[in-house]
Amino acid sequence: MSDRYCVFGHPIGHSRSPAIHAAFAAQCGEAIDYTAIEAPLDDFAGAWRDFVAAGGRGANVTVPFKEEAHRLCATLSRRARRAGAVNTLVLGKNGDTYGDTTDGVGLVRDLQRHGVMLRGARVLVLGAGGAVRGVLEPLLAEGPASLRVANRTAAKAEALADDFADLGPIRGGGFEAVAGPFDLVINGTSASLGGALPPLPDDLFAAGATAYDMMYGAELTVFLRWARERGARPLDGLGMLVEQAAEAFFQWRGKRPDTAPVLAELRRSL
Ligand code: ATR
Repeated sequence: MSDRYCVFGHPIGHSRSPAIHAAFAAQCGEAIDYTAIEAPLDDFAGAWRDFVAAGGRGANVTVPFKEEAHRLCATLSRRARRAGAVNTLVLGKNGDTYGDTTDGVGLVRDLQRHGVMLRGARVLVLGAGGAVRGVLEPLLAEGPASLRVANRTAAKAEALADDFADLGPIRGGGFEAVAGPFDLVINGTSASLGGALPPLPDDLFAAGATAYDMMYGAELTVFLRWARERGARPLDGLGMLVEQAAEAFFQWRGKRPDTAPVLAELRRSL
């Protein structure tokens, strides 16, 4: 029987993870069975227990279970402990559950793949929710000159910056206090979905700057269209999705898939 893996979410119907992991497995010659499971909102721990009892070896975790997954782990990676969230569960040999979060490395690898220089860069991150918390440690580890976190609710950005202040030059605040130029602006709010944009100055971008949206779609997001009109290079989060999956696959199987063909196929299917 193939080793079983899954992605847990609620809802989970539109998840791309089964297709991505099937492609990785085929490429690496690994026999795995990867499905999407809609866990009940009130019993994520029970869903994971049941999955393990049925032969599950690991899982990805998405909205809204990342914090709950963090709580049930016996051991955690350093970055998962910092993030307070887990997107990858691994069943250890002793039956204990180990948790990691691969979103941040996924983001950093995607930026590197596009040749975006993080060392010494002036970086602005929009948003201060779970998605942003999950990527701050790997971003700071790359050595930016400054990392500004701006959020609609300024106090949340300030608290987040305090939590990560020992790792690098990070500051938090509201949108109104944001002053460019930035070499890289990352949108980690859910605002680009609804079509509304945070109030931001027009001269946000340095020459040659990159705008990155953690969201993706067949069309550029509202944020990326806005950024392109102001001279920035727009990148969406599809590459981050594939790279975070590749890191999870590596944790489970010890093999690193080539992400380029999988990303290209996914892009075609959008
Ligand atoms: P996620 O896990 O996706 O980060 P979250 O923790 O609910 O979800 O955080 C959502 C983020 O999007 C927050 O930074 C939120 O701002 P607030 O903290 O002020 O609520 C931001 N956000 C959502 N809708 C927004 C909007 N219309 N304009 C600006 N920011 C928005």
